[in-house]
Amino acid sequence: MPEQEFSSLLLTQATCGKQSVSVSSGSEIILAQQIAQYCTDNLWVLHFDFIMSENKEPRRKRVGLAVTGGIAAYKAIEVLRGLQRAGCEVRVAMTRHACEFVTPLTFRALSGSYVVVDDYSDDNPDPIAHITFSQTIDLFVVAPATANTLAKFANGVADDFVTSTYLACTAPVLVTPAMNTTMLEHPATQRNLEQLRADGVHIVNPDAGEMACGTIGPGRLSDPEKIVAAALAVLTRTDSKADLTGEHVLITAGATREPIDPVRFLSNRSSGKMGVALATAARDRGAKVTLVAGITSVELPADVRVVNTTTAADMYRAVMENAASATIFIGAAAVADYAPAQLAEQKIKKTNSSIQLELARTPDILGDVAAARRHGQLIVGFAAETENLLKHATEKLRKKGLDAIVANDVSSRESGFDSEKNAVAIVFRDEREIVELPLMSKNEVAHRILNEIVELRRSQKSHQASTN
Ligand code: CTP
Repeated sequence: MPEQEFSSLLLTQATCGKQSVSVSSGSEIILAQQIAQYCTDNLWVLHFDFIMSENKEPRRKRVGLAVTGGIAAYKAIEVLRGLQRAGCEVRVAMTRHACEFVTPLTFRALSGSYVVVDDYSDDNPDPIAHITFSQTIDLFVVAPATANTLAKFANGVADDFVTSTYLACTAPVLVTPAMNTTMLEHPATQRNLEQLRADGVHIVNPDAGEMACGTIGPGRLSDPEKIVAAALAVLTRTDSKADLTGEHVLITAGATREPIDPVRFLSNRSSGKMGVALATAARDRGAKVTLVAGITSVELPADVRVVNTTTAADMYRAVMENAASATIFIGAAAVADYAPAQLAEQKIKKTNSSIQLELARTPDILGDVAAARRHGQLIVGFAAETENLLKHATEKLRKKGLDAIVANDVSSRESGFDSEKNAVAIVFRDEREIVELPLMSKNEVAHRILNEIVELRRSQKSHQASTN
C-alpha cells in the first residue's frame, strides 16, 4: 500500500477512537490484512486499533507500559515479557530519561511496535498519540515510576508523552515506584503517593533491599513477577463485581510480638493468611484497603496500603490513626492480650531458680474501635476459640459491640492457625441467622465474609431509607 494512502487511513482511524477496522466483507479483509502486514513490516503499530483479527474469540487485554528514567528501567523488559506471557498485548511508551538507561529499540523489538517517546518526533505516526494510546488500552502500567513522574501525575502536569497519556487515560493506572530510599521517604513523595491513592491509582509498593546507590532500605522496584501479578489482578478486577467500591476497609492481620528482652518475645501461631486473604478480596471488589499487619508469614498483597507493626501497642496506634476514615473495620489479627510489664534492657541471664514474668493487659483494639464507632461504620471481629465456639463468639460480639463476629475453631488442625483452609461460623448482632461455612480455602472464606458485609451494608441503607 502506498505510504500516503496508509497515512490517511491511519489518521481516519486515529480520530475514530476505539473503533477497529471492520473485517466483514472480503475486500475489507484484504485491506485489513494489508494494513496489518504494513504495520508489522514497519514496526510502528502505535496503538491497538490496528490489531486485525478475523477470529471471534474475546480480544486480548491491552496494556500500555510506560517506562520512566531510573536504573530499574531494565526490569521493565521482564514486566513486558511477563505481561505478554500472560496473553496481554503490550505497547510501550518511554520518557526521554528512560532512554538513557534502555533504548526504545529494545522495547520496539520485544513489543513489535513503535515506542513513543516524543509526540513531536518526526517519525511519530500519530499526531494525537497520547489520546489514541490512552483510549485504546485496558490498563496503563508505569514501571518503574520515578519520583518526578509520580509528582507530575499527582499534580496533573502533562509535559511529555507519558504524563499527557496519564491525564488522558480513562483505564485503570498501576504505578510501581522505584527510587532512592531518602527520595521515597521524603514527605513530598509520600504526599504524592497519597494523592495518587486518593485519585484511584493502583500502587505496587517498592521492595526493601540494597539499592544501586549502595543505600539499604525501601525503594527498589518490586519484583517484575509481582508487578505482572498486580497488573493481571487489576485487569481481572475490572471485569469482576465491584460491590465494595467507595468503601475504605481497614483490616488487622497476623500475630503481634511482645518483647521480653532484646532477644525474646511472646507471640502466637497466627500466619496472617486470613487477614491477608480478606485484604486481597476487598481490594479485588473495589474497596480502598488499609492493611495493618503484625507479624505474618505470607506475602502481603500488592496494591494495598500496608502499615507494618510489631507489638499490640504499635498495632493499636496504627489502627487508631486510620479508623476515622474507615467505613469498615475487620479485626483479623491475633493480638496478644498480655505483654511483659517490663522490657528488660539486656538479655535476661539464666540462674538455677525459676523466674516470674509479670504480664500487663494490652489495649483492646477491636473493642476501642467499636466504642468510638463512626456513624455507619461496620465492625467485624474474629473469635478464635478451642471450646464452646458459638457461645464464646456471641459473648464477644455483645461485649465488644460488633456487627458480626467470625468464629473459628482453632483446635482443629485443618482450620486452625497457619492452615490453608478455614471453617467458620459468622454470627450477627441482629436477628440474622448464623452462617456456617464448611472447610474451604481462606480466599473463599474471605469472599463469603465480604458477601455478608455487603449484605449488612445493604440492609443498613434500606433501614435508613425507610426511617427517613
Ligand atoms: N482483638 C483486638 N485487640 C486485642 C485482642 C483482641 O483487637 N488486644 C481482636 C482480635 O483481632 C479479634 C477479636 O478481638 O477480632 C477477638 O480476639 P480474642 O483474642 O479471640 O478474644 P478476646 O476478646 O481477647 O478474648 P479471649 O482471649 O479471652 O478469648
